[in-house]
Order: sequence, then C-alpha cells, then structure tokens
Amino acid sequence: MKYALIAALPLFFIACSQHEASNHSYGNHNDISIQHISLDLTADFSAKTLKGSATLTLKHHRKADELILDTKDLEIFKVEVDGKEASYDLGKRDSILGTPLIIPVKANSVKVTVHYSTHPEAEALQWLSPEQTNDKKDPFMFSQSQAILARTWIPLQDCPAVRFTYDAKIKVPPHLMAMMSATNPASKNPEGIYTFNQNKPIPSYLMAIAIGNVEFKKLGRNCGVYAEPGMLPKSAWEMEDLQSMIDSAEALYGPYAWGRYDVLVLPPSFPFGGMENPCLTFATPTIIAGDRSLVSLVAHELAHSWSGNLVTNETWNDFWLNEGFTVYFEQRIMEKIYGRDYAEMLSAIGLGELKKSMDEMLKEAPADTKLYLDLTGRNPDDGVTDIAYEKGRFFLRSVEELVGREEWDRFVKQYFNAHAFQTMNTKTFIAYLNSNLLDKNPTWKAKVNTEEWIYKQGLPANCPQVNSKEFKRVEASAAAFSKSHNAKDIDTANYTTHHWLHLLRNLNNLSVDDMKALDDAYAFTGTGNCEIACDWYQLAIKYKYSAAYPEMEKFLIAVGRRKFLKPIYKELLSTSQGKSMAADIFGKAKSGYHAVAVNTIEDMLRAAENP
Ligand code: BES
Ligand code: ZN
Repeated sequence: MKYALIAALPLFFIACSQHEASNHSYGNHNDISIQHISLDLTADFSAKTLKGSATLTLKHHRKADELILDTKDLEIFKVEVDGKEASYDLGKRDSILGTPLIIPVKANSVKVTVHYSTHPEAEALQWLSPEQTNDKKDPFMFSQSQAILARTWIPLQDCPAVRFTYDAKIKVPPHLMAMMSATNPASKNPEGIYTFNQNKPIPSYLMAIAIGNVEFKKLGRNCGVYAEPGMLPKSAWEMEDLQSMIDSAEALYGPYAWGRYDVLVLPPSFPFGGMENPCLTFATPTIIAGDRSLVSLVAHELAHSWSGNLVTNETWNDFWLNEGFTVYFEQRIMEKIYGRDYAEMLSAIGLGELKKSMDEMLKEAPADTKLYLDLTGRNPDDGVTDIAYEKGRFFLRSVEELVGREEWDRFVKQYFNAHAFQTMNTKTFIAYLNSNLLDKNPTWKAKVNTEEWIYKQGLPANCPQVNSKEFKRVEASAAAFSKSHNAKDIDTANYTTHHWLHLLRNLNNLSVDDMKALDDAYAFTGTGNCEIACDWYQLAIKYKYSAAYPEMEKFLIAVGRRKFLKPIYKELLSTSQGKSMAADIFGKAKSGYHAVAVNTIEDMLRAAENP
C-alpha cells in the first residue's frame, strides 16, 4: 500500500506539470482567477522600465491557500493581500514560461497588490531611441503580449482561458502620449498622466501599451488613426476605408462589441504586421504603401474583434480557431468592399503560401501541419505558421462551399454570438459545428472531412480551388519572359501589389542578366513596397544578383517585421557565403529588432550552424 502510493506520486507530478505546460501558464485559475486588474505604472525611458503596481481582484472557485501568477523577469518589491504586506515565493525560472509567483491567500482574500518593475530587456516591450522612430525626434515604447509575453510586464494569469477587465493610470514624460487596448485619449495632456478603462473582459495576451509622440485623426463614426505626426497624413489616407470595413464586418457577423476601433501605426521595428489589441489595433508602417494595396491587414485585425477577442482560443494548441476564422472573415470583408475578383486574388496568394509552407513543413516538422497542435513544452510561437492561418481558412471555406453561404453565414454569426466573451477549444468547436450545422444533412456530414483537416498532416483532397483570371494573365507573362528574357513581354497593365507578387513567385531559373533586365524595367531594388521588396530580395539571393545586396541590407536593418525577415534570412542561410552575410547583417540590425524577432532569427542562425 505504502509502496503503491510512493510509486503513484511521480505520475501525479507528471500529470500536473503536463497540465501546466499545456496551457503555457503556471496560474491556478481553476482555483482562483483574476477578475480585474488595476495598473498604476510610471514609464522611465532612461531606465527602460515600467514601475509601479498591479492590483488584482480575485474570484475564488474552490478552496485554495495560494494564488499563483505568471511572471517573467519582473523585479518584485512587495506584495500586499487586502492592503496588508504579505509573504510570497518565486519558483524556478523556465526559459519559456518564466517564474511562478506564489502568494499565500485566505478563502476570503479579495485583492492582491504586486509592487514591481519590469526589466529593461522585458521581452514584450521595445524601448526605441528617437532614431528608431519614423520622425526621429522622440523616444517610443510599445508592447507585444501575444502569445505569452504579458507576464514580462504585468504579474497575472497569462492564459487565454482567463478573462478580466482592467483600468490603468500611466505616467509618461509630458510631451508623449500613452495608449492602451482600452478607451484612449484623443490628445496629449500636459501632465503626462493618462487613465484607461477596459470594461469588457479580455484575455491577458490582449493587454497592450504604447507611448510616443503620436497624434490622432478621426476617420469615421467610431474609428480613427494614431501615428507619429510625420506619418499621420499618409496613414489616414491609406485607411480611408476603415469605417466601411467596420460596417461590412458588422453586416456579416453581428455588432462590433468594443465601442471604438482605432489603428495605431507604429515605428518600423514592430515585429508583426498587425496585432488585434482591443479598441486599438497595432499596425506596422509597412502597410502604408501609398496605394491602399495592403489594407487587407487592417481587415484582418478588425475581424479579430469577433474571432479571437470575442471568442478566444482556449489554449495555444487551438490557435487555428483564432487565426483561421480571422483570415476567412478578413477575405469576406475584402470581398464585400472591393469585389470577388480582388478577394480571390488575395485568396490565391494565401493558397500559394500555404502550399509552399506545407511542402517545407512536411519535411521539417510534419506534425505541425495539423490544425490542432501539440505545443506542450514548446514556445507557442512555434504555432504561428501558415497552417493556423491558411489551412484553417481553407478548412472553413471548404465548409462554406459544402453547405452554401447562407447556411454558413447564419452558423458563423450564431457561433460568435453564442460564445461572446468566452473561450473555445477545438473539440468543443467540432461538436458545435456538428450539432448546429452539419447534422442537418447527412451528405454534408459524409463529405466534410473534419477529422482529416484538423487531426491529420498535409492538405486534404477537398481543399477548395481558387481561380483568379488576373493571375492567369500574370502566369502567361512569366512564361513569356522565361522564353524571351525580355521584360517587355510582361503585360503589367493595371498591376497591383498582388500582381507583382504573383509575377515574382512565378519566375523560375533566372540568370543574373534576367534579374538585371527585370530590375532595369521595374526598379525592384530599393522599392518602398515592403511586400515586393521581400520577394525581390529572396530572388536576388537565390540568383546571386549582388547589385541588390546593399539595398537588401538596408531593408533588413530598417524593418523589423518578422514575416519579412524570416524568408530573407532563410534564403541567405542556405549557402555558406550567405551565412556569413546573414550573421554580419544581423549583427548590425539586432539592436533595432524587437525581442520576438531577435529570438526567431537567433534560432535560425543557430540551426544553420548545427544542422
Ligand atoms: N494576432 C496576430 C499576431 C500574432 C500571432 C502575434 C501570434 C503573436 C503570436 C495578428 O492578428 C496577425 O495575424 N498578424 C499578421 C497579419 C495578417 C494579415 C496575417 C501579421 O503580423 O503578419
Ligand atoms: Zn491574426
């Protein structure tokens, strides 16, 4: 009996730690969860810290004598429970999960206050010098909390299954403005003290803050744009359709739940294209192309106001529910505003990227080509691939095509409405899809292939086809060029960014002379369109067109958006000469990149050294 108990103990611990790792949080939210956070923080640009306190309001679910929070690299000064100084413990630091903060509490404890400071290297936060901004006049700071970096600037239960409301008082240098994922100021205040309120419950990964010299321009009834003064007119022009995007989204899937929808255009080191922080999407300046050709990214972040922010993935293994739904919804908004042909071009680009990633991943990480992921013990960042986005989207599109738009749209609207401000996991979603849609018709059920889409590797045979007439024209031009080597044979009439991308993706076996002919005709090297630049520099490396290298290096130093960095560094790392170039450029660029981009590129450099 005694022995059996001892033998069972390790099993118990394995089960516990697996549970902890599978939601990437140390938090004991099943015992006690956070309901509200009150932040009182001061931003110190010379120390690169946010310093002050976070007061957490607790809700007890079952008997527990401690509250466990996630932290990473926070300096804790003092903890209070209901106003009285209390003891606390910090666990062992894990390089991915950070350090659990364990605070003894009573059954009737209501408020826990943690007095703390962030570390200057806090992974979520990037502190920029004036030179690293668009206007080069004032410093700037922004956060990126998704997936599990909120714990590097707030002690909390950093798990998407926990929702809470928040308020904040943020003190900043007087000439700067603070903004958060909440109600925001429309102008600066002379004391540099800003207060915020988010009265809708949100998961921790949507906690966001930015501080900089920015101004606001109203664009519609409930929307507008924030940007540095030098970027504001261009940004406002690019986002002219913001209000109609909101109106279209509401017409599709129900009322917008968050009050205002504003976009903040960040300095170029922002590591993502966009981040759906509630009330205030954060966006890269690389979408300001001067021709409104890259605004589908705004439609994407707006769509997250339903898929993700209202109905939230329960764990990062369910990430496809956030992103697949969002890419699907994004396309529907684009179709409504700009028409089916244009939306199909965007979908064709997505399908092309999916097929390319799928081929690579089936070789390198085949298990990650399933929609439902197993990220236990790994960084949830590993799940940010075309699988969640594009395989997810094409699965949903395959259901739409099977059941017809009317039925499908009714279902999606009902799905968002029924699960608003809740979490969703893959298994529950499948059950909901069956009982509210597919069970109505036995042939749907037989054809839909859900299990294969979600739990198997690769792309199922019933993946939808995408047809774009415009892209056929582009393919014909690419074929003509490969015969004649004459850029005049490319019919570039009415080309948009996406025609150019499709062209570049369909040119094969180029010589240096071909590259030069293309460059002479269309001035790709040094282009201000970052999407085109990213594709062009990959070709330049592949076909050894060294004339483009100086501009490519400038691009890699100026832009910190990971989606552009990754493929260019990857191409460089495929040859030994390229490897030393990659190391050299990264050495110069690193100090300008956000931590999530640094981590990704460092992993790639390391893997290239030890294949
Ligand atoms: N929520 C994501 C960004 C993200 C995902 C950050 C996971 C950290 C972890 C955002 O909505 C997104 O998908 N951005 C894309 C834009 C897009 C149009 C596909 C990006 O940044 O490129
Ligand atoms: Zn997204």
